[in-house]
Amino acid sequence: MELPDWVPATMDVSKPSSARMYDYYLGGTHNFEVDREAAERAIAVMPFTIHGARGNRDFLRRAVRHLVESGVTQLLDLGSGIPTVGNVHEVAQRVNPLTRTVYVDIDPVAVAHSTAILRSNPLATVIHADMRDTEAVLAHPDVRRLIDFSEPVGVIMAAVLHFVPESSDPDSIIARYREAVPDGSQLVLSHMSLTGQPAEMLERFQAVYANTTNPVVFRSRERIAELFEGFELVEPGLVSLQAWRPDADQDSRVNPTHTPGFAGVGRKKS
Ligand SMILES: C[S@@+](CC[C@H](N)C(=O)[O-])C[C@H]1O[C@@H](n2cnc3c(N)ncnc32)[C@H](O)[C@@H]1O
Repeated sequence: MELPDWVPATMDVSKPSSARMYDYYLGGTHNFEVDREAAERAIAVMPFTIHGARGNRDFLRRAVRHLVESGVTQLLDLGSGIPTVGNVHEVAQRVNPLTRTVYVDIDPVAVAHSTAILRSNPLATVIHADMRDTEAVLAHPDVRRLIDFSEPVGVIMAAVLHFVPESSDPDSIIARYREAVPDGSQLVLSHMSLTGQPAEMLERFQAVYANTTNPVVFRSRERIAELFEGFELVEPGLVSLQAWRPDADQDSRVNPTHTPGFAGVGRKKS
């Protein structure tokens, strides 16, 4: 198979990846046949998958605007994904051009494409890392170069923790990032949850992702709330993706059958 020139030479393209499936849901072009087939299977099981992916991305943009408007101008975006329209650093730099952003992703396509678009931006970079390896991320020279850990940091975990199983101890991972940042820092978190959906849908959706590089884990709203330990939720709290500070022109009516995730922003407690 002839591969496009944005594919890193060493990459295994035989397995679908969550990053490239998400790119497909968002209408992007950095995905392969294997990703598109898996994504279509996911959409067949859960028809509001695309709605959820776009709703998540819209939440992320609103949350980033909130961070920068509240004075947080250093962003650590963990599980940042393949660049798309309205990337975190672009949204942030529109509010404050001096905002610094470090993207972190485990997917080689996400990293290669991010590297290419960030080449001429001295205030944003990407590193290839597993966000669960907190010490490697926090000690990375590019993270240390762009982020001053004596000033507030926006730690972003958007649609990534549902790829972190309980066996990886997500609470300890979040606690380590919380300890590394000073008071005034904030956590942006969104997470898939099919609370209220038929168990069969959950199982079939999980079965699609079981064959990808990132099996998915659903958590209840209560369990997602626990992940904010040590952070105080800002208004409106932990709510469905579309209900977090909707833009004036956004349709904020929340259909409970179309609520595949919860989102919130928390301020580090002193
Ligand atoms: C659904 S996408 C979300 C992208 C972006 N954060 C957003 O909300 O639009 C999930 C991303 O997390 C990445 N990812 C999954 N597990 C990861 C891990 N352990 N460390 C770093 N990145 C991870 C995937 O490669 C993918 O790019």
